[in-house]
Amino acid sequence: MPNQQEAPLCFTCGTKMRPAGSCFVCEGCGSTQSMLQFVELTREMMKPSYVGDINFLLPQLSKSAELITMEWLDYMFDYGTRLFVALDNDKIVGTVLLAAPMVIFVGQKDWIEDVVVDQSYRRRGIATALMEMAHKVSRERGAKSVNLTSNPDRGGARQMYGDMGYELRDTGVFRLMLLPK
Ligand SMILES: CC(C)(COP(=O)(O)OP(=O)(O)OC[C@H]1O[C@@H](n2cnc3c(N)ncnc32)[C@H](O)[C@@H]1OP(=O)(O)O)[C@@H](O)C(=O)NCCC(=O)NCCS
Repeated sequence: MPNQQEAPLCFTCGTKMRPAGSCFVCEGCGSTQSMLQFVELTREMMKPSYVGDINFLLPQLSKSAELITMEWLDYMFDYGTRLFVALDNDKIVGTVLLAAPMVIFVGQKDWIEDVVVDQSYRRRGIATALMEMAHKVSRERGAKSVNLTSNPDRGGARQMYGDMGYELRDTGVFRLMLLPK
């Protein structure tokens, strides 16, 4: 059973909303808001519409992002990548990926990638909820730390990571391109 969003505060008047069927309704002003579901998607659950949803989100993460295919998702799952999504009426509106663990001398390190929430769903706690799902899996599988990189331009994301307890390390990230960009 997928996790469901806790009743949010109304965007219009700030009153705590209450669940009503597949949405939340505000007792103050009567506004409604769809109920999101937070799910780990597996290979078996994948379908073409999800690939389309992810391809709608990726350019919101990076203008140069290449679009994905079902085959690429299969390849990711083969490598042990875990995919956490927020669904609104079965449409993916946010993603967090937990990459396969790095198992090295100092222990097991995990990496989070592809944190993105559709523009019109931001500041509703979606990325935070997805990150927490990834942290739980990471903790359960014995990782010592969860790591990620975030460009200095990404003020909102960096604020969020800081609020969650991530610390900025001064180790530079070096990259050697093995294929032309
Ligand atoms: C960064 C991003 C994933 C955040 O998603 P989100 O679902 O809106 O995040 P949340 O609602 O969980 O935010 C949690 C907290 O993070 C901080 N935060 C998030 N976005 C922020 C912004 N734009 N400006 C300032 N603080 C921000 C706030 O403290 C926020 O809490 P608040 O809303 O109660 O103030 C989303 O803005 C996004 O997709 N941005 C473009 C892609 C990107 O930068 N990804 C990160 C790659 S490293």
